[in-house]
Amino acid sequence: MQLLSLNFLATFAVLALVDVATARDLRNVTEPKNPQTCISLKATSKDDTKTIQKALDSCTKGKAVALSSGIFYSGPLTIPSGVSLLVEKGVMLRALTDPTLYDLGAKKCGTIDDLGLGCKAFITMHGAKGSGIYGKGTIDGRGGTIMTGHNITWWHLARNALAVHKYQNNPRLIQINNSMDITLYQITLTNSPFYHLVATETNGFTVWGITIVAPSYALNSDGIDPVGTQNVTIAHCNITTGDDDIAIKALTAPAKHISVLHNHFHRGVGMSIGSETTHGVSDVLISGLTINGTYNGLYIKSNTLRGGLVSNITYDNICIENADSPINMDADYYHYHGNLTPVFRGITISNVRVLTNGTYIFHGLNASKLIEVTLKNVHIPKGAKWSIRNTKITGNFTEDVTGGHCGYAGNTI
Ligand SMILES: *[C@@H]1O[C@H](CO)[C@@H](O)[C@H](O)[C@H]1NC(C)=O
Ligand SMILES: *[C@@H]1O[C@H](CO)[C@@H](O)[C@H](O)[C@H]1NC(C)=O
Ligand SMILES: *[C@@H]1O[C@H](CO)[C@@H](O)[C@H](O)[C@H]1NC(C)=O
Ligand SMILES: *[C@@H]1O[C@H](CO)[C@@H](O)[C@H](O)[C@H]1NC(C)=O
Ligand SMILES: *[C@@H]1O[C@H](CO)[C@@H](O)[C@H](O)[C@H]1NC(C)=O
Ligand SMILES: *[C@@H]1O[C@H](CO)[C@@H](O)[C@H](O)[C@H]1NC(C)=O
Ligand SMILES: *[C@@H]1O[C@H](CO)[C@@H](O)[C@H](O)[C@H]1NC(C)=O
Ligand SMILES: *[C@@H]1O[C@H](CO)[C@@H](O)[C@H](O)[C@H]1NC(C)=O
Ligand SMILES: *[C@@H]1O[C@H](CO)[C@@H](O)[C@H](O)[C@H]1NC(C)=O
Ligand SMILES: *[C@@H]1O[C@H](CO)[C@@H](O)[C@H](O)[C@H]1NC(C)=O
Repeated sequence: MQLLSLNFLATFAVLALVDVATARDLRNVTEPKNPQTCISLKATSKDDTKTIQKALDSCTKGKAVALSSGIFYSGPLTIPSGVSLLVEKGVMLRALTDPTLYDLGAKKCGTIDDLGLGCKAFITMHGAKGSGIYGKGTIDGRGGTIMTGHNITWWHLARNALAVHKYQNNPRLIQINNSMDITLYQITLTNSPFYHLVATETNGFTVWGITIVAPSYALNSDGIDPVGTQNVTIAHCNITTGDDDIAIKALTAPAKHISVLHNHFHRGVGMSIGSETTHGVSDVLISGLTINGTYNGLYIKSNTLRGGLVSNITYDNICIENADSPINMDADYYHYHGNLTPVFRGITISNVRVLTNGTYIFHGLNASKLIEVTLKNVHIPKGAKWSIRNTKITGNFTEDVTGGHCGYAGNTI
């Protein structure tokens, strides 16, 4: 059964290259290499924050601080420009769970409020050029561990916040702001108290061969979020999480020239664009994606509160099983209303196989703001459910799939 879908993926990988000239990362990205190390550190199993930060601050540009053995415990760290962190195989870097360590000054971290902006991230890069995080080790945010000085976990705080329609002040695992040429390679990121990996207004962002794992009940535990970021390649990653596996957003700046290649999602909310599409998302290529067990497959979400143009989005060579909504394009997400106009057009969905039953949702805003989608070679099983309004679909679904499995994109192409 698996061979059938693998052949399918391989055949269409070639076709994918033909008509997607500009909808991709404009850089020519190849597999990263680990930088040379400036120093190797061994864990003390006490608080190693100062040792790691000092090593990062004094490392020569172009080199990496290696964490080479044991389990490191640390509070927030900043990776300087040009310097990288290398977490070697079998080594663990664990976040301390004391909210006061992450507090931005207003004593909000570890509490619930109306904004949820009270904590710094576990690892921050700001205005960095050529920095990165490498190695086959693990960075553990410990979202499921009791917070120091409290009696609940970060994730429990998130559930409490949701219950009262407010926001948890939890640290993100990795936050990259206003940077250039940032690389993440091979690392495993797990159990973030909030989003795992966010790159905001960054130009040149390569994420290659990383693994993200968090449980389904970890609210807001997004995998990878490029936000107002350009020239992005996310390739050969495995993502299993409790919220969006990848979410491309344009909150304060446009997000464009993004390639999402040969990734595998196992659980999560899906391959998302939005809901923050305000400054426009364009020129995105999502190819060689396999999905098993997410709520949505290919998901675009916005509303009149967010607005923005989502265009030149190419999905190609996709296999989806066990997704509630294999395709969900919703310009009226959560029915939040404002004064802006979300428009989705130039969306091409080609060479797709969906292996299990699901609901296909296309909700354009109104009769003058249609979603414009082109379907080519999209195969689904009989028995699909449909919810379509204000949408112009060119092409059609072919209802001829009977079973099979998707396999792993990372191994097939
Ligand atoms: C994206 O990459 C291309 C090719 O390297 C480069 O010309 C362009 O300036 C980059 N764009 C940004 C916003 O960095
Ligand atoms: C990428 O490679 C293509 C084909 O080799 C070349 O034409 C193009 O100039 C390269 N782009 C960059 C930004 O290096
Ligand atoms: C946790 O602490 C709160 C007050 O901070 C208290 O109301 C609650 O009973 C405690 N819960 C447990 C399980 O100890
Ligand atoms: C990074 O950007 C986010 C979003 O704009 C912001 O909330 C955060 O404070 C910034 N972090 C730093 C360290 O500048
Ligand atoms: C993703 O998972 C598959 C199956 O377990 C494995 O073969 C592949 O190497 C994994 N990729 C990464 C980047 O860990
Ligand atoms: C898909 O996910 C289900 C549920 O987690 C699992 O039982 C099954 O083995 C997965 N299929 C493949 C091909 O990995
Ligand atoms: C979409 O891509 C085409 C070329 O493929 C380009 O001419 C057009 O400007 C792009 N549109 C947007 C909104 O980026
Ligand atoms: C469609 O929605 C837009 C944005 O809210 C609005 O400006 C426009 O008048 C609406 N058109 C129709 C036909 O309802
Ligand atoms: C989809 O659902 C229909 C009826 O709802 C059922 O007959 C069919 O076997 C299902 N197909 C798959 C692949 O589960
Ligand atoms: C699309 O396919 C469905 C069933 O697969 C069929 O009923 C419908 O007529 C087709 N529409 C067009 C425009 O070909």
